[in-house]
Formats: sequence, structure tokens, C-alpha cells
Amino acid sequence: MEIREAKDSDINEVLSVEKLAFGYDKEAKLVSDLLGDESAKPTLSLLAFDGDKAIGHILFTKVILSGKNDTPMSILAPLAVLPENQKQGVGGKLIEKGLEILKESGVDLVFVLGHPEYYPKFGFNPAGELGFEAPYHIPPECAEAWMVQELRPGVIGSVKGKVQCSDELNKPEHWRE
Ligand SMILES: CC(C)(COP(=O)(O)OP(=O)(O)OC[C@H]1O[C@@H](n2cnc3c(N)ncnc32)[C@H](O)[C@@H]1OP(=O)(O)O)[C@@H](O)C(=O)NCCC(=O)NCCS
Repeated sequence: MEIREAKDSDINEVLSVEKLAFGYDKEAKLVSDLLGDESAKPTLSLLAFDGDKAIGHILFTKVILSGKNDTPMSILAPLAVLPENQKQGVGGKLIEKGLEILKESGVDLVFVLGHPEYYPKFGFNPAGELGFEAPYHIPPECAEAWMVQELRPGVIGSVKGKVQCSDELNKPEHWRE
């Protein structure tokens, strides 16, 4: 398996992986919207390949703490692996490669809203209790799905606040489930 940054010319593969992994179009539309959203930059879009075939995709986009813009931060959304390639470590490798690149580029914190049994395997912890409010209210029974990890030791504890995503990801429909 090879992982590399997605180019503009890979857009069809990116959207196809997203559609097939989720089984519907919503995340593919989100990815397309985020890649055209100036407020989401810098973005990191990675594709995993098995030979010539794209089998997984991950996207990270910029977030800020409301009213502040001095801590470089990203959010992981979405992550997608083709159904026939799931549970073989592809998703994990995309997360790890993404975090490595973000760390090298100076990003301090990475957020995710997702499966609370999955993302802790890759270093994420519940974010609410660490002082990071989600863009929209997360019901208490789903609180563990809102997660964060620091890429620079000591950042957690030194900053707190409400996370604000890019214009497209900040739309309420992405936070209702
Ligand atoms: C969720 C998803 C990205 C995981 O990718 P993957 O390549 O199958 O995951 P990995 O093989 O790296 O999984 C690593 C571990 O997580 C477990 N795991 C996989 N999906 C999981 C899930 N949805 N919930 C909990 N654990 C999960 C695997 O069993 C594996 O456990 P192990 O290390 O103990 O064997 C993939 O299943 C997918 O694309 N699903 C549909 C879209 C989706 O739900 N995206 C995530 C949105 S938050």
C-alpha cells in the first residue's frame, strides 16, 4: 500500500472512495465543498493506493479557537476506506501518516468527531473534558465522540475554548448525528 497527497487531478478517485465507503453521497459532497473552501486551508488530503487503485482517503482542514488564531489546529473529517479494504489497517495508516505530516508542518492540535472506540487507538482523547468545546452542542451520551490530540507536548492545558471550523464544516448539518 502507498499513501500520498491527493492532487487536483485525483478528485474523481477521492470522491469515489468517499461515496463507496459511506454508501451515500454526503461525505463526498462535504469533501468537494471543503476542498473549495478558502477558510479550510491549509488542508491535507491523502489517498491510499493498492497498486493503481485508490482504496482510502483522509482529509484534514483548518480549525481555530473562537476569537483566536494563534494555535495551528486541524480537524480530521472525513476518513473513508473502501468496504472490501476495511479492517486491514488502511484507516490507521492514513491517520498516522496525516498526523506525521501535520506535526512536521507545525500543527499543534488535531480534533475529530467520530467513533469513540476507533480514534483512541491513534492517540485521540475526549476533548470536552480537556477544555475544548465543539462548534455545536454534543449531547452527553455522545461526548466521547468529540476528541482531540496534541502534536506538541504541553499544548493541551495551555489553551482552551470553542472550536470553530471552516465555513463549510461549520454548517450545523455536519454536527447533528
Ligand atoms: C472507520 C473506517 C475508516 C476504519 O478504517 P479501517 O481501515 O477499516 O480501520 P483499521 O483497519 O485501521 O482499523 C484498526 C482497528 O479499528 C477497528 N475498527 C475499524 N472500524 C471500526 C469502527 N467503526 N468502530 C470501532 N472500531 C473499528 C478495527 O477492527 C481494528 O481493530 P484492531 O486493531 O483491534 O484489529 C472504515 O471502516 C470506514 O471507511 N468506514 C465507513 C466510513 C466511516 O464510518 N468513516 C469514519 C467516520 S468517523
